[in-house]
Amino acid sequence: MLIKKPAEIKASEITDKSVYLQRRRFLGRASLLGIGLSASLPGRVLGQNRQALQFNKNQAYSTGEALTERGKITAYNNYYEFGTDKYSPAKRAHTLTTHPWSVTIEGEADKTGVFNLEDILKNRPLEERIYRLRCVEGWSMVIPWVGFPLGDLLREFAPNSKARFVEFTTLARASEMPGLSRPVLDWPYVEGLRIDEAMHPLTLLAVGLYGETLPNQNGAPLRLVAPWKYGFKSIKSIVKIRFTDQQPVSSWTRANAREYGFYSNVNPDVAHPRWSQKRERRIGDFLKRKTLMFNGYADQVASLYRGMDLKKYF
Ligand code: MTE
Repeated sequence: MLIKKPAEIKASEITDKSVYLQRRRFLGRASLLGIGLSASLPGRVLGQNRQALQFNKNQAYSTGEALTERGKITAYNNYYEFGTDKYSPAKRAHTLTTHPWSVTIEGEADKTGVFNLEDILKNRPLEERIYRLRCVEGWSMVIPWVGFPLGDLLREFAPNSKARFVEFTTLARASEMPGLSRPVLDWPYVEGLRIDEAMHPLTLLAVGLYGETLPNQNGAPLRLVAPWKYGFKSIKSIVKIRFTDQQPVSSWTRANAREYGFYSNVNPDVAHPRWSQKRERRIGDFLKRKTLMFNGYADQVASLYRGMDLKKYF
């Protein structure tokens, strides 16, 4: 895979004065309302304007490996709603309006409805977790995410006994997402987890990286991170979470079920039909390294798949 240098930040991407003033006004309002800074920044101004978050470092859930540079994490992306080229999301995702933002909770739960992101984040402690991210294409990064455990949020909606799976949906707003004009995937982007995977303490909903709010190209304002799975399971810019008794059909499985299964666990022993998954290139490194079973998280997650034939359930 060809790895280029991250695109340089253009002058046009630097905060202009009106946006800056809008942000100042918002911060004034936020402090009047007594809302914590970390939980209340509007994505419209924060998406492309870096805002510091308040969080605790979670060492127990973090790898000690060297971090991938911020500039690389935010310049080399997969976000097909903004084009299939790795450099397009960083150039184009500034068009995404991430405020106001709401998340619809549907399906097999006692509490459902439409919830403002600000309310979801209110009084919710954030933590930093340094996770490996392994893309199915054979590259990987080490990313300091800021977020909170997905399971903590899901439990608040009181899922019932039929809630065996959780389906996630990305925003599909053609006016702001130029990639939607091409039927590369069946939009909106959809992903799913088994309920025990969703409730697993490693599974994170991220709102930031490198101590700041998520850039749009990384999935602002809210994206999933399931670090033992290939990166495509980590769905960006989530607008809907549905509890269901049926295994969700993800966009990638719908596009090509032979190549992309439901589980998508990182597994060096199961090749993608078109390439091996035994090795990966850490972005920034010259030499490839061995890919680890479950992306190195086997101790924590292997028990979820005990007794399953991982060649069949790939
Ligand atoms: N989510 C949406 N909505 N659209 C996408 O195209 N790409 C996936 C995943 N989430 C994608 C998405 C893929 S293939 C990967 S590898 C990761 O996002 C990349 O996340 P990053 O750009 O933050 O590194």
